[in-house]
Amino acid sequence: MAKPKIRERTLKRAHVNQKGGVGKTTWTLNVGAAAANLGARVLIRDMDPQGNATAALCPEPGEYSMTDVLTPDQETGEVVEGGLAGAIRRTGDQWPKTLYVVTADISLSNIETDNRTTGTPRERRLQVASEGACDGFDLVLTDCPPSVGLLTLNALTDSDEVEIVTVPEQWAVSGCHQAHRTIRLVQKYHNTNLEFGGVWINRYLMAGRHPRRESKAREEELRNAPHFKGRVNDPVVTEIEAIRNAAGVNLPLYAYGPEAEEAARIFRMIAERALND
Ligand SMILES: Nc1ncnc2c1ncn2[C@@H]1O[C@H](COP(=O)(O)OP(=O)(O)OP(=O)(O)O)[C@@H](O)[C@H]1O
Ligand SMILES: [Mg+2]
Repeated sequence: MAKPKIRERTLKRAHVNQKGGVGKTTWTLNVGAAAANLGARVLIRDMDPQGNATAALCPEPGEYSMTDVLTPDQETGEVVEGGLAGAIRRTGDQWPKTLYVVTADISLSNIETDNRTTGTPRERRLQVASEGACDGFDLVLTDCPPSVGLLTLNALTDSDEVEIVTVPEQWAVSGCHQAHRTIRLVQKYHNTNLEFGGVWINRYLMAGRHPRRESKAREEELRNAPHFKGRVNDPVVTEIEAIRNAAGVNLPLYAYGPEAEEAARIFRMIAERALND
């Protein structure tokens, strides 16, 4: 098996959608695991108070979580520059040894509503805390919550690239448009270097060899939207039971066995592209 080139500089990529349950965490975990399995050093930053990526990765015990990293000092209002480094943990034995995580839990939702105006600007806390802490990684993937609030804003302000993940359903597609508006605002005001990496359509429904009506209609809507023209990524990922099954037992797809072979191949391909970009 040819080993892909590992990156010369760190790529920070975030997965977003305002809609929940569309596959953001699935992308973060499986692209991350596939890239690490190919030999890359990968960090997953969990920015979702639901902590789904954290739970899946079965991290080693540790003192600090994302909440500690992003909570400003009471007096100065500043977060610790590079403080993320102290919160990086190893993942469970079933995951590659070069896959690391900064964990999230429900306490992270307090950050979403912190309106302090002094010290580190609210949308730049993750960026300041991550300074220098990500340098040793090839890929840093950030799993965002299903909203475009302050946590997502922090993730986008400290990313090189953002990808939208969606399912081909009306409300999820509305979430894509909202996410895209947020991306444009971040590009304008907070991170002029942020690149839009396109939309992934996930859980596309087929009836035999033909797409289901709603899946096809929403795919066309996305492909024809002026801001998504040419920006719908390949491949479109269908509903694959093995993806849900592997997630249910906290296993990477490539370790789940023959049932997950096709899904593992897709995410390996996405990971290879990320490492060669
Ligand atoms: N292609 C797929 N086929 C089958 N199941 C899938 C597929 N993609 C994701 N799933 C399952 O769908 C559920 C939702 O996925 P996931 O948790 O990744 O979404 P999310 O966008 O991160 O959700 P949230 O917004 O709540 O964080 C999970 O149980 C996951 O295993
Ligand atoms: Mg999620």
